[in-house]
Amino acid sequence: MKNVLIIGATGQIGSELTMKLREHCPGGNVVAGYIKGAEPKGALLESGPAEEVDITNPQMIADAVDKYSIDTIYNLAALLSAVAESKPQLAWKIGVGGLYNCLEVSREKGCALFTPSSIGSFGPSTPHDHTPQDTIQRPETIYGVTKVTGEMLSDYYARRFGVDTRSVRFPGLISYVAPPGGGTTDYAVDIYYSAVKGEEFKCPLKPGTFMDMMYMPDALRAAVEIMEADPTRLKHRNSFNIASMSFDPEIIAAKIKEYVPDFKMSYELDPLRQAIADSWPDSLDDSCAREEWDWKPEYDLDRMTQDMLVNLRKKLLQQ
Ligand code: SER
Repeated sequence: MKNVLIIGATGQIGSELTMKLREHCPGGNVVAGYIKGAEPKGALLESGPAEEVDITNPQMIADAVDKYSIDTIYNLAALLSAVAESKPQLAWKIGVGGLYNCLEVSREKGCALFTPSSIGSFGPSTPHDHTPQDTIQRPETIYGVTKVTGEMLSDYYARRFGVDTRSVRFPGLISYVAPPGGGTTDYAVDIYYSAVKGEEFKCPLKPGTFMDMMYMPDALRAAVEIMEADPTRLKHRNSFNIASMSFDPEIIAAKIKEYVPDFKMSYELDPLRQAIADSWPDSLDDSCAREEWDWKPEYDLDRMTQDMLVNLRKKLLQQ
């Protein structure tokens, strides 16, 4: 991995992954691909090349790949689960049509391709505890349908055309840098903002709603490590369960209260998000990722909470 194109570089994952890859690939081109209206700013703009790359336009992807001799594409364009329910046609166009464009460019130009899948690729008939790597995937959200389709299409391109496609199923991702926007797991980011601002947090999910979550530094490391894994050890490709922590609103609120004793949370349920969360696993079994490419998380809820609070305080003070 030397010359990398990140599609969706100004989003929640992309804005941090682009910076990490620029450190990780010195001497290479790590190109921030963005869409109109979401142009890179500040350090993201100043630290490397940027190109307008709309994932629904295959020529734009191909041109950026040619211009920078790209060997690896990170396809991070997506609508998250809750917002996708309000725009299912667009979610399909970006999630599946966009992936198809990336796969075709990768096939023609010999690129490796990373496309994240999600806990959202599972559904109500999936075993919810210690969800196995290979199990029932019958999601009921359009987000999940695009993710399962993406997993299968990516495996097909690997088998049929030898395209080096790889993927992880991300849990809810928590970060103090760029906000998520439109996901079911967003509450676990918003809760920290409320705690630092001294505001009561209105939780959209009810007590007992367990989901897998992960701190962004672990997620970024997973995205890099899977693309650098020894291919001869990989029995799976699209997509690996990865996990680091599972909690419900009561557990994360109690943890925050250890460091912010005045923190208060009440419940104001969002029926759409609640239904989506109820259909997703409570915790994933990530033993295949551990065996096949030595995946290991570094952050648990306590370490993440301390880091989030320190960094969010700094960030909000500067604003
Ligand atoms: N964080 C995503 C969402 O909530 C799940 O992958 O939509």
